[in-house]
Amino acid sequence: MYSSRISGLGMYVPENVVTNNDLSKIMDTNDEWIQERTGIKERRHIKKGDGNSTAIMGVKAAKIAIERAGVDKDDIEMIVFATLSPDYYFPGAGVQVQDLLDMPTVPAIDVRNQCSGFVYALSIADQYIKTGMYKNVLVIGSENHSGGLDMTTRGRSVSVIFGDGAGAAVVSRSEDESSILSTHMHSEGKHAKELALIGPSTGHWVPQIIEESATASDDDITYYPYMNGQFVFKNAVTRFSEVIMEGLQANNLQTSDIDMLIPHQANLRIAQFIQKKFKLSGDQVFNNIQKYGNTTAASIPIALTEAWEEGKIKKGDTVVLAAFGSGFTWASAVIKW
Ligand code: UT7
Repeated sequence: MYSSRISGLGMYVPENVVTNNDLSKIMDTNDEWIQERTGIKERRHIKKGDGNSTAIMGVKAAKIAIERAGVDKDDIEMIVFATLSPDYYFPGAGVQVQDLLDMPTVPAIDVRNQCSGFVYALSIADQYIKTGMYKNVLVIGSENHSGGLDMTTRGRSVSVIFGDGAGAAVVSRSEDESSILSTHMHSEGKHAKELALIGPSTGHWVPQIIEESATASDDDITYYPYMNGQFVFKNAVTRFSEVIMEGLQANNLQTSDIDMLIPHQANLRIAQFIQKKFKLSGDQVFNNIQKYGNTTAASIPIALTEAWEEGKIKKGDTVVLAAFGSGFTWASAVIKW
């Protein structure tokens, strides 16, 4: 049995900064409410004509990760792409990366697990490397939320939270003690509609949406994301705690052994709750939701990349990734860096 490690990290966010004050000009919201409830100060939105898309941002992040991993793109044997906002309904975004990076005809898997997507994708990469099938797997989390949000007062409780961006990791066979020690994944589909975008889909085709929209009330709209915020928040704090503990226990570790916890950047209040519950210091938890908002599958690789770039993750550190989101799905990874 082999083990895998993260050999290279990269991130990309669009240049266009959208502050809370910018949002207050187009909907009834304000900087104070957004910062108090979420911690977010600004986020990035793709600007029309800037050439970005979910796949293209993923490629930009991937190029950096591949360079830092010190491998050739032709040495990557599989792509795992996590997103809830692919460029096309089908095919998935992974195949676009294969083409845009001019890679050999390697397999490309798309992962549809929303905020937990990157940790799910990392787990997939880890398994393929553990079995010896592959030596280098490219894992990407990328989201283009901004074009699909309801940017009016009606959609404010969701639209102020989400931002665009991408993060990527090259996962390689480890030659030393650096290793993804374990990954842990869960789902609970009975809450699928508590955080969802229902249509367009095979359950709500476009003609049906057009027909219904003539008479639909605000509550019936299916083509913007819906979130039962307080219900999601309560589940998030519980599941984050459980899945972090599950990962630590699987490796006989205590919360005090964590050198760096990278929580999915859903809400600064959730991360602060976890930090307090586990009695972690500010140095043991990394947050950057203040700058980027919630970038769903991209949030963990973006945060991981920034933490690494700032020298906050060093060889030998115990790094824990934890995510919760739509599905519901939740997951963790325990890494010896
Ligand atoms: O990444 C996936 C996982 N996602 C999460 O974990 C998110 C979990 N949920 C949350 O983070 C929070 O529930 C939110 C930040 C989404 C909302 O915060 P909240 O404290 O739960 O607020 P609320 O939805 O209960 O709304 C409180 C009030 C309402 O007004 P009334 O009814 O009290 O008059 C809302 O209409 O705040 C109002 N409101 C806003 N006001 C200004 C909702 N959104 C806004 C807004 N600006 N953007």
